[in-house]
Amino acid sequence: MPLELTKIRNDFPILSQKVHNKPLIYFDNGATTQKPWEVINRISEYYKTENSNVHRGTHYLSQVATDHFENARKYISEFIGASNQRELIFTKGATESINLVATAMSDYINPDDEIIITAMEHHSNMVPWQQLCLKRKANLKHLTIQPDGSLDLNKLERLISPSTKLLAISHISNVLGTINPIKEIVRIAHKHNIPVLVDGAQAIAHIKVDVQELDCDFYAFSAHKAYGPMGMGALYGKAEWLDRLSPYQFGGEMISTVSFSKTTFNEIPYKFEAGTPDVAGALGMEAGLRYIDKLGIDNIRKHEDELLEYATAKVQELEGVSVIGESNDKTAVLSIVIEGIHPFDLGTLLDQMGIAVRTGNHCAQPLMSCLNISGTLRASFGLYNTKDEVDIFIVGLKKAVSMLV
Ligand code: ALA
Repeated sequence: MPLELTKIRNDFPILSQKVHNKPLIYFDNGATTQKPWEVINRISEYYKTENSNVHRGTHYLSQVATDHFENARKYISEFIGASNQRELIFTKGATESINLVATAMSDYINPDDEIIITAMEHHSNMVPWQQLCLKRKANLKHLTIQPDGSLDLNKLERLISPSTKLLAISHISNVLGTINPIKEIVRIAHKHNIPVLVDGAQAIAHIKVDVQELDCDFYAFSAHKAYGPMGMGALYGKAEWLDRLSPYQFGGEMISTVSFSKTTFNEIPYKFEAGTPDVAGALGMEAGLRYIDKLGIDNIRKHEDELLEYATAKVQELEGVSVIGESNDKTAVLSIVIEGIHPFDLGTLLDQMGIAVRTGNHCAQPLMSCLNISGTLRASFGLYNTKDEVDIFIVGLKKAVSMLV
């Protein structure tokens, strides 16, 4: 079913504002998405009528907050196809989710072990593993990318060795838009008994995610890239792994019993949720995902794929443009470089026209070195973007280029 864009755009108050006296065109959804009224109202309603600490009080408000918080956990775990809400831990975002696993996995990484990532990882799915390897004297290996921005799974088979202890990979690249074949990658890794962590930050709002179908061991994602609030996210982990791993932080809520000499820990997921959680954040995250569900993820994907195809064709008509990331299986992200022009200069001029894009290395410096470029100009689409906006972007781009050459 096609998206009703006029109606949808009215759901997002920020989209009606002007920037530099021009209607805002927001093409930076890879960095963060805008928030619909449902999310804004849900957070404000919580603070107006439900605010209380969860799992702690016998009083009415604490019960209400706890019920809503746990219902959010249930909804979000079902949204990603998890079979049990115990497998969903609330975090500050995908970055914290990955750091949680990297810290907890430390017990299982020994000198000369190997962790495999790919060349297209965001720093958040690279630096935690690099630091873990440095600490444990293990080796970080990476799978290179092919010229079109996809991965060669035969190379992955060759990279795996008896010392490989973990594979960490993005579901969708934030620079290239490539959708990685996670199911097949997990199948290969599991053949060698290697657990797989998937960074789903760029996937959750754009394609159907089903962690049971993917069979991944961990799946990390953020609320703010899925129309929810910032500072909120989740980690899915298979119960068998979460039960084995040691807690990541210590404090209230994550304990079972405490004495001066000893502490026993709570069950999952609470074992990994030390301190007062962001309850409003969890409710806002649920509201963002409910908004996606209401429109239908398949309808959203179809719409964004059409925008990507349209924008890619238009941009390729311009002289000196190279599209970075041309995998057959990609979505929502259009990265380009234009010969002789610095992406930052283009981004600055587009901003003056009310068009928000991201420029630079996109927190993926090793990928930039592999591609031998310093950065790109990235337009990343969300469910509220339109072809008319793409047309204005193309006109703006032509104008900016003419001013810079
Ligand atoms: N990871 C976000 C991006 O790609 C911030 O822009």
